[in-house]
Amino acid sequence: MTEKRFLVTYASQLGSTPEIASEIGNGLRKAGHAVDVADMKGVISLEAYDAVIIGVPIYAGPRGLGDIGNFAKKRFSGELARMPVAIFAVGLLYEGMKSDAAYVTANVEKAIAPIVPVSTVLFAGTIDPGKLSFWQRFANISTIPSADFQDWDAIRAWARGLPGLLNG
Ligand SMILES: Cc1cc2nc3c(=O)[nH]c(=O)nc-3n(C[C@H](O)[C@H](O)[C@H](O)COP(=O)(O)O)c2cc1C
Repeated sequence: MTEKRFLVTYASQLGSTPEIASEIGNGLRKAGHAVDVADMKGVISLEAYDAVIIGVPIYAGPRGLGDIGNFAKKRFSGELARMPVAIFAVGLLYEGMKSDAAYVTANVEKAIAPIVPVSTVLFAGTIDPGKLSFWQRFANISTIPSADFQDWDAIRAWARGLPGLLNG
């Protein structure tokens, strides 16, 4: 197996996406690869990497996909067009939130087009009402109790398949 250099980068408001990014990073390291895990805001270059894995938290509203547009379409559009990219979105798949996996992944892919990821998955995240801002509590999630739906087996399984997918 050839060792690759991967960047797992994420945006987050409430801390679930970086936890998942970290688990993906650990999986890739265990498979013998060199991995950095970093907040999108702190990434200044992609030069050191063979491929990039991007974590995107899903929020209802105009700022819904965080920094992904800025990261993928403005700051690093040229670099990302030349390297394999995989996406994991993180959301809570509540009926009341009108989100389903196909809708969410299609929206994320639209946000980074013309970059075409080798894989786009949606993982369940967490919600801790104690961490929400006033406006977030006010939003339509106010009826949702504290929840943690992170499915570590699904996350680890996706991470195991990544080196093969990103071998572009
Ligand atoms: C104000 C608010 C709006 C949200 N809207 C959605 C949504 O539209 N669809 C969805 O699947 N999850 C939604 N979520 C759930 C978040 O995606 C989930 O909490 C995720 O773990 C957030 O990632 P983060 O912890 O990295 O910020 C929402 C959460 C909050 C607090």
